[in-house]
Amino acid sequence: MTPTKWDLTPKPVSASQVTLVQLMEITDANVAGIAHGGSIMKLVDTAAGLAAIKHCGGLAVTVSMDSMSFLAPVRIGDTVTVRASVNDVGETSMEVGVRVEAENVITGERTHTGSAYLVFVALDETGKPRPVPPVIAETPTQQRRQREAKIRRETRLAHKQAIREHRERVAREEQGSEPA
Ligand SMILES: CC(C)(COP(=O)(O)OP(=O)(O)OC[C@H]1O[C@@H](n2cnc3c(N)ncnc32)[C@H](O)[C@@H]1OP(=O)(O)O)[C@@H](O)C(=O)NCCC(=O)NCCS
Repeated sequence: MTPTKWDLTPKPVSASQVTLVQLMEITDANVAGIAHGGSIMKLVDTAAGLAAIKHCGGLAVTVSMDSMSFLAPVRIGDTVTVRASVNDVGETSMEVGVRVEAENVITGERTHTGSAYLVFVALDETGKPRPVPPVIAETPTQQRRQREAKIRRETRLAHKQAIREHRERVAREEQGSEPA
């Protein structure tokens, strides 16, 4: 990849922090009468995307979302607070960690209802992956998240490689079994 016009000055994790707050309304309900997982996932993707864009200073798209956990139900009438920040970066990709909390606005009780890790890729004006700035993890928590992000990155890349090799092997076997 050639050096570019992009500003690749390292940025602290704090520069990418995003908080979104939304009231869960009737239109967010599923058949069980609680907030639909898809409503929460959309908020998670939006917050994470904003964090990625803030970090890289340009367009970024979701390439994967994994480890989305729903730890407790979110009731209609609760507010949902979604916090996102960049955990670690590769060359063109950024892992964003997201924490979801619900709040009963009458009692003030807050519950950790979910977490997710998403990978975004920064794109240039032609839609091709382009380099992103390094991220500086300043606090012990940020440093732990960065180390864990590196473990997840290795797992994702190994998984992608294993699937690719499996498909290539199946394609070769299918070719070999074709009648002459
Ligand atoms: C994002 C996109 C351009 C990347 O294309 P690609 O051919 O996979 O590009 P590369 O192989 O060069 O990979 C680019 C980066 O993505 C990472 N990546 C690719 N596939 C990945 C996956 N499944 N999970 C995690 N990271 C992945 C690579 O590791 C690489 O990161 P690095 O440069 O930090 O090492 C392409 O996958 C795409 O257009 N996806 C659709 C995006 C979209 O429409 N999102 C929904 C709306 S926002």
